[in-house]
Amino acid sequence: MGTYRIAVLPGDGIGKEVTKGAVEILQAVATRFEHEFEFVYGLIGGDAIDRKGTPLPDETLDMCRQSDAVLLGAVGGPKWDQNPPHLRPEKGLLAIRKEMNLFANLRPVKFYDSLIDSSPLKEDVIKDVDLLIVRELTGGLYFGKPSGRRMEDGEEIVVDTLLYKREEIKRIITTAFELARKRKKKVTSVDKANVLESSRMWREIAEEVARDFPDVELEHMLVDNAAMQLIRNPKQFDVLVTENMFGDILSDEASMLTGSLGMLPSASLSTSGPSLYEPIHGSAPDIAGQNKANPIATILSSAMMLRLSFGLHLEAVAIEKAVQQVLASGYRTADVAKKGQRIVSTKEMVDEIKATILDDGAIL
Ligand code: NAD
Ligand code: IPM
Ligand code: MN
Repeated sequence: MGTYRIAVLPGDGIGKEVTKGAVEILQAVATRFEHEFEFVYGLIGGDAIDRKGTPLPDETLDMCRQSDAVLLGAVGGPKWDQNPPHLRPEKGLLAIRKEMNLFANLRPVKFYDSLIDSSPLKEDVIKDVDLLIVRELTGGLYFGKPSGRRMEDGEEIVVDTLLYKREEIKRIITTAFELARKRKKKVTSVDKANVLESSRMWREIAEEVARDFPDVELEHMLVDNAAMQLIRNPKQFDVLVTENMFGDILSDEASMLTGSLGMLPSASLSTSGPSLYEPIHGSAPDIAGQNKANPIATILSSAMMLRLSFGLHLEAVAIEKAVQQVLASGYRTADVAKKGQRIVSTKEMVDEIKATILDDGAIL
């Protein structure tokens, strides 16, 4: 029996619906395995802008730092899209990642047998896909300075900067190698070394790190080719490691190997202090508030939390198996339903996963 304090940041749009679902699942795990999870709630994103005038209030950050782990939904929405840069919901997400040193974003892409028909891709391409995207999360194009607009010689110019320190590249690549060592022992380092100097340094450091992992194979791949290879033959990959924005784009693409963006969880690990868990998808304004969102990405993120932050492996497996069983028994939210299949709501999906976890005979 353990006691854990979990900071929950629902954020905006479907962020609220999917975190509510994941908390219910964690509560079911607490009941079944006799743990105590204390949930504390904080504001982030558009909601925080509306109520506190800032996308990441200090009290939210303090609360997260004092917790054992953070569960986040999603931020953003059309309401705030015209706001100045510092008052955008997304700024809150970037700020919490930076402030908590959440440098390593793990985005596993795992195929579910029962969703074979949900992906637009062919069965032989996606069957048994099991890869991990390791996305650098606190540097690169998202954080480099200078960034902004200014007038130069009477002309308006705009600049974003892709900046990395050697150590930042080294630690994310090292993380990827460590993870690969526990998997299929292959790292694909994705870059744009034919054009970008930052990528040439990235490649050089990948070679250096690889020397400490003689049991792990390293390959380099240009990002445009990687985007294509993910669709052509995703089974060639084990661990992909890449710069912040490349990782953002490739992971949304890779989600379709599973059938939906609503299926991909993530863990953002810190150099020190608590880690943060969130689905890779956004606030989905097109379906927000309609009880339609797929809660599985967030539920699987909570399983990652149990395993990586609390070392609760059995409990994590219980969630993952329950998800697998519920999908196998035909439960489908709209995003993964095929024509003619019965569509369930967010709530029905959560209730069924919860019931499976609580049913002694159903799992383990
Ligand atoms: P999005 O991920 O919100 O949605 C893209 C598409 O996928 C939409 O059609 C949406 O309905 C669908 N979708 C996403 N998650 C789903 C789920 N769980 N179940 C079913 N369908 C799902 O991306 P977007 O539309 O480009 O962005 C909307 C807002 O979300 C923007 O403000 C953006 O900045 C923000 N965003 C936030 C995060 C985050 O908080 N981590 C991530 C991505 C986008
Ligand atoms: C994600 C999102 C964020 C990102 C945005 C909302 C800042 O797309 O978590 O993948 O680009 O990192
Ligand atoms: Mn994204």
